[in-house]
Amino acid sequence: MGNRRPRHETASSPKGASRPTWGSAADQGVRPTTDFLTLSVNGAPVTVPAGASVSAAIALAGVTLYRRSVNGEPRAPLCGMGICFECSVTIDGRAHCRSCQVVCQPGMEVRTDA
Ligand code: FES
Repeated sequence: MGNRRPRHETASSPKGASRPTWGSAADQGVRPTTDFLTLSVNGAPVTVPAGASVSAAIALAGVTLYRRSVNGEPRAPLCGMGICFECSVTIDGRAHCRSCQVVCQPGMEVRTDA
């Protein structure tokens, strides 16, 4: 193990560098998507990159009020990981879907309950 470099160190990084040198996103194989799809949010068409969440599509549509609480208070995504249910919307007629956990599909119809 004596000659092994720390995992974050590359041949081009100075030995003992204090920060990892990961390189650019392109160096890591991340490529911008060229696939887009269109769905509707409250009746308005929204085009999003393939793989986007419904929550992201709603935000891109400019909608900030996803639903109202039982007391009538405005609600919107909070956790972004399926725990809080604050992002609940109706998708293709199915109520109470957590929009942060659903991937957009072409032609999907999303309605916020606000
Ligand atoms: S934002 Fe919390 S469940 Fe979707």
